[in-house]
Amino acid sequence: MGRFDYDSELIKALEAVYGSDVFNFLESLSRPPSRYYVRVNVLKASVDDVLRRLRDRGFEVFRDEVLDEAIYFPVKGPYEVPSAKWYVVADKKAAESVLLGSDLYVPGVIKGEFRKGVEVNVITEYGDVIAYGIAEIDSDSIGRVDRGIAVRVVKSRYDVVKIRELPEFKEGLIYPQSLPSMLVCALMDPKAGEVIVDMCAAPGGKTGHLVERSYGRALVYAFDHSKKKVERMVEELSRLGHIGRVKVFKADSRYLDVDFSWLRADKVVVDPPCSALGVIPKLYDSKRYSDIKVLSEYQFQFLKTAAKVVREGGLISYSTCTVTLEEGEELVERAINQLGLEVIEPKIRLGSSGITSAPWGMYLIRFHPHIHGVPGYFISLLRRRN
Ligand SMILES: C[S@@+](CC[C@H](N)C(=O)[O-])C[C@H]1O[C@@H](n2cnc3c(N)ncnc32)[C@H](O)[C@@H]1O
Repeated sequence: MGRFDYDSELIKALEAVYGSDVFNFLESLSRPPSRYYVRVNVLKASVDDVLRRLRDRGFEVFRDEVLDEAIYFPVKGPYEVPSAKWYVVADKKAAESVLLGSDLYVPGVIKGEFRKGVEVNVITEYGDVIAYGIAEIDSDSIGRVDRGIAVRVVKSRYDVVKIRELPEFKEGLIYPQSLPSMLVCALMDPKAGEVIVDMCAAPGGKTGHLVERSYGRALVYAFDHSKKKVERMVEELSRLGHIGRVKVFKADSRYLDVDFSWLRADKVVVDPPCSALGVIPKLYDSKRYSDIKVLSEYQFQFLKTAAKVVREGGLISYSTCTVTLEEGEELVERAINQLGLEVIEPKIRLGSSGITSAPWGMYLIRFHPHIHGVPGYFISLLRRRN
């Protein structure tokens, strides 16, 4: 179902990673992960308690085999979606949620003609049918209301538990996070008393995990340059009960060494903006190779600053939810050659190795959606040489 408008240079860049498997990779992007992961906030509840509460209410939920705090709900589907006479076109973000069984909310509606109470199909801008449901309002009133449910979804292509509606979510006992993303802070192994900087922190997934993994005893600094995203991160951290445990700043973290010159960290998490080619499910996407080059330069700026902020011998994690060499192995190579960093061996082995013939390639971690059934992801652990 996925439609990908990538230019030939970008396809070439993907072939450099996947060779003739590139088709399987692209095909897998429109499918959701096979497991929907959440992290248990171990500062508020034990994993056993959360599992018991959910299972008592009939949920199918399991422990991850490797990460103690990770539990998952199986993603069901793909299902056939019944046809309806009426349709509503959803924007990309809304469509990707509806694909997994969420209702369609008014802000996600692009167009459609329907009356309250009729059966409708939710379709993408390309006309792909992703769900069937019942209209909750007349299409005429959409311009006049800006919130609420437009279509209550009855059957979607896939089905997954609506995490945000669970009391466990509202009480801050769980945080939805992919397994690769959780692996980053598990590998960083935050300890009591350590100063840890999260340079691109919002919405706070890794920040919260650093707090929990250190049992609230690490001194965590979270930076993000977007006011709106910082506000959202503060909300998330409050829900988890972590707000007093993190120092949050709205700042351009490429200049931390100047604007926060007093800051010396034992560990730095670098999780910068990326081309997000590994994010699944994706119904469609449009990108150019030039976007990748621009992002790669941007990402290097964070690494450069991280290398200044971290103490000698300190640790930096560099991760992205994408798959190109330009945003992965090639940046690590520059960091080794120009920033005095070295790649270290991860203590937990999941996924596959890096794609390079350099000896440190075996210490890199990659996840491939068509092989591992999780989002495409890149993780490296770097140490500042003494
Ligand atoms: C991939 S997201 C981070 C996700 C986050 N680490 C998590 O696990 O929840 C990248 C973040 O970098 C932020 N960002 C982009 N440019 C930045 C800059 N110059 N300084 C600080 N943050 C920046 C974006 O606002 C975005 O929230």
